[in-house]
Amino acid sequence: MNDKQEMRALILSTFNNRYACKGYDPKKKVSAEDFKVIMEAARLSPSSMGLEPWKFILLNNKGIKERIKPFAWGAEASLAGASHFVLILARKPKDMKCDSEYVEYMMNDVQHFTDELRQTRKNKLKNFQKNDLKLMESERSFFDWACRQTYIPLANMLTAAALLGVDSTPMEGFNYDAVEKILVEEGILDTEHFGLSCMIAFGYKNREHRPKTRRCIEEVLEIID
Ligand SMILES: Cc1cc2nc3c(=O)[nH]c(=O)nc-3n(C[C@H](O)[C@H](O)[C@H](O)COP(=O)(O)O)c2cc1C
Repeated sequence: MNDKQEMRALILSTFNNRYACKGYDPKKKVSAEDFKVIMEAARLSPSSMGLEPWKFILLNNKGIKERIKPFAWGAEASLAGASHFVLILARKPKDMKCDSEYVEYMMNDVQHFTDELRQTRKNKLKNFQKNDLKLMESERSFFDWACRQTYIPLANMLTAAALLGVDSTPMEGFNYDAVEKILVEEGILDTEHFGLSCMIAFGYKNREHRPKTRRCIEEVLEIID
């Protein structure tokens, strides 16, 4: 087999063998090295205009996990037994609007754009947000734009974990208001700048995964010549 064939086989086996884990062995821990790589997959994810509208919180605190549990039906197994439990936050419109301090920080301190290029990019961002995406119509659609982008690091973390043989679960099965209220009370969430988007857990399974079911390629891919 040549390198390309091996790479194709690796990609396919990784995706075929990645499952949403529904039960974790609490005794098995993900190594610090593996978790570091998984977080790098998140950090290096692409985002619209490179604005990285996310933050990740590794929640180790048992008390806070217990408080969240009653309001997170989709995360029960993960909260009980996963080695690592991560909250994915998305930036609020206050930060994502073209004239925000955060956008200025990103374009200046992170992306190192010149004054002139920053102004051009901000004008482009304003037009894109207002006329193309029509985000100005509601704060909710603005926040949803940031949330949508957090699903890219979510997916990359799932794939990185699968490549490392680590089981994982993506989650949005929780009551957002109730969980956010707890995070605010615990001093974890500043709702002026962030909202909760989704969650992800890592660990090692304590039962067999449910067999994978997917529609066939002909059903999901349409080719227009
Ligand atoms: C955005 C998203 C949210 C999900 N939320 C949950 C959840 O809250 N709890 C859970 O156990 N699984 C959750 N899942 C996992 C799905 O149920 C699972 O990916 C799907 O059934 C396909 O199974 P597979 O991932 O094992 O192939 C979620 C998946 C995605 C992509």
